[in-house]
Amino acid sequence: MKKIVLLGLVACLSAAPVVAEDLSSRVEASRAAIKGFVGNLGGELKVALKKGGPLEAIKVCNSKAMGISKMHSEKNGWHIGRTSLKPRNFANTPDAWERSVLEQFEARKAAGERLMKMEHYEVVTQDEKRLFRYMKAIPTAEKPCLVCHGSRIAPAIAEALDKRYPQDQARGYQAGDIRGAFTITQPM
Ligand code: HEC
Repeated sequence: MKKIVLLGLVACLSAAPVVAEDLSSRVEASRAAIKGFVGNLGGELKVALKKGGPLEAIKVCNSKAMGISKMHSEKNGWHIGRTSLKPRNFANTPDAWERSVLEQFEARKAAGERLMKMEHYEVVTQDEKRLFRYMKAIPTAEKPCLVCHGSRIAPAIAEALDKRYPQDQARGYQAGDIRGAFTITQPM
């Protein structure tokens, strides 16, 4: 009996350095950066939808989304972007790690977890560099998302999307689906 307790203690001690690596400030900073990103892009989208309707808003998404993501990336010295299992912009195609997290999110949703706070983070080693990687699920709301990502997209909007995104996969969503995720990479 004593021996088992002792073994348990040794196991705890040897695991300690990993536990001691406190990622909470990186997680907090990631959440804050995403809030800023959502504020900027959501704000632009709302203004454009009000001013010129969805056709104007597509132009804004097209011209501003990447710029806003670049701005937030440079501000923090990280990479911040959006990705999806069914991307509209081909440049948002997930890498292998992002794909596995998006699949994990789908499984967690299927198991009943709510999307609002769904996130995943991990320290990974890529090309001999240690990276902190973080992802947060993006839920599909009925309004306004389905106007441009739903299954009954108005012909004029579909045409505008076809023109800009010949490889568009981001249609046919329903409210409550996972549209994609924010993705952050911080060098360590
Ligand atoms: C006016 C049309 C329109 C509306 C409304 C809209 N989107 Fe999009 N969405 C787009 C376009 C266009 C892109 C491609 C942006 C780019 O070129 O980077 C896009 C890209 C995205 C991406 C990046 C991944 C990808 O597929 O390339 C996510 C995530 C996303 N939208 C989520 C949403 C959510 C969530 C909502 C509702 C809050 C929403 N969108 C509403 C047009 C729209």
